[in-house]
Amino acid sequence: MARSIDLKTIADLSVFVGTGISLYYLITRLLNEAEGGPLSGKSKESRQKQSQTWDKLVAVRPNLKTVTLNSYERSVLASVVLPQDIEVKFSDVGGLEDIIEELTESVIYPLTMSELYTSHSLLTAPRGVLLHGPPGCGKTMIAKALAKESGATFISIRMSSIMDKWYGESNKIVDAIFSLANKIQPCIVFIDEIDSFLRERASSDHEVTAMLKAEFMTLWDGLTSNGRIMILGATNRMADIDSAFLRRLPKRFAIPMPGQEERRKILTVLLKDTALDNEDFDLDLLVNATRGMSGSDLKELCRDAALNAAREYIRQKRQLASTTESDAISEMRPLKNEDFFKNLKLDARVPLGTAGLD
Ligand SMILES: Nc1ncnc2c1ncn2[C@@H]1O[C@H](COP(=O)(O)OP(=O)(O)O)[C@@H](O)[C@H]1O
Ligand SMILES: [Mg+2]
Repeated sequence: MARSIDLKTIADLSVFVGTGISLYYLITRLLNEAEGGPLSGKSKESRQKQSQTWDKLVAVRPNLKTVTLNSYERSVLASVVLPQDIEVKFSDVGGLEDIIEELTESVIYPLTMSELYTSHSLLTAPRGVLLHGPPGCGKTMIAKALAKESGATFISIRMSSIMDKWYGESNKIVDAIFSLANKIQPCIVFIDEIDSFLRERASSDHEVTAMLKAEFMTLWDGLTSNGRIMILGATNRMADIDSAFLRRLPKRFAIPMPGQEERRKILTVLLKDTALDNEDFDLDLLVNATRGMSGSDLKELCRDAALNAAREYIRQKRQLASTTESDAISEMRPLKNEDFFKNLKLDARVPLGTAGLD
């Protein structure tokens, strides 16, 4: 008798506990969704990051205090970068001075001195700016520096990830990108590798993608022309961009492979904080030997050279660890030609005359 009661109680209890647990999950899920919305990042971390970004933004722009965001806008917050969190400045970019100056005029002025552009009918800010050129030559870098130096908020988006992540709801995210940009202007909406999103409409083009493009263009056209929101695109493959989009990117800047003088400037910038051997380092030699290399190749080369010296330092330290001499070596030695040339394989050099700019 006692036993059967026990069993019954246990059975009831387990049902109770079972429903309790599922109820608990249901409630927390509902709460989560109510609080963060279905898209505000599934994880606690991404929600935290979003609210941190927002808090920081409100701290520098107190007028945003009263602004509220919907759940889609909040999920776009994950792609917002604040100027104070960007480390790249124009002075870190080697060469490209003319382009930087022109960009300053066509992007930074309209963003920061919008009164000039709204009051004067002849001065109109470009709705879209496109950076194009071979990979590794500084397009992404320049975009970041632009955001930093203009003080504008920077929404950096990759369309492919939006389409993968929010499939079926990506149109809402596209809406949210524009509405958030509107709320947090001045704002640069940066679309890196814009070709992957805007590729010429192929027959294989999915209906969703086509709809998304149309949505994007409508919103883009709807931007008021005071220039406080700028669409900035970057691409390695301009030929792949939909012509309807190209028309909306009237300001285009070619970021070419660095020539002789540009390589010298890039190397100088990259090595500005590095000790170089007075006798055994020859910048001219390095500039000549790196013909055909991009900015990112040059960065790798310098990094490898520094690693080479660092490895030597560590080896010496280890060998002398048990002796008193160990203290004598307190710093990595300055970099020498050999550190660079060791990694500069002959086949990495483009034969004379094909590098284009030299
Ligand atoms: N002109 C440059 N001056 C200094 N560093 C450069 C330059 N171009 C490229 N780099 C280096 O190469 C890296 C990659 O460049 P990135 O801007 O991402 O190229 P892209 O977007 O054009 O493919 C940069 O982070 C930077 O370290
Ligand atoms: Mg890039």
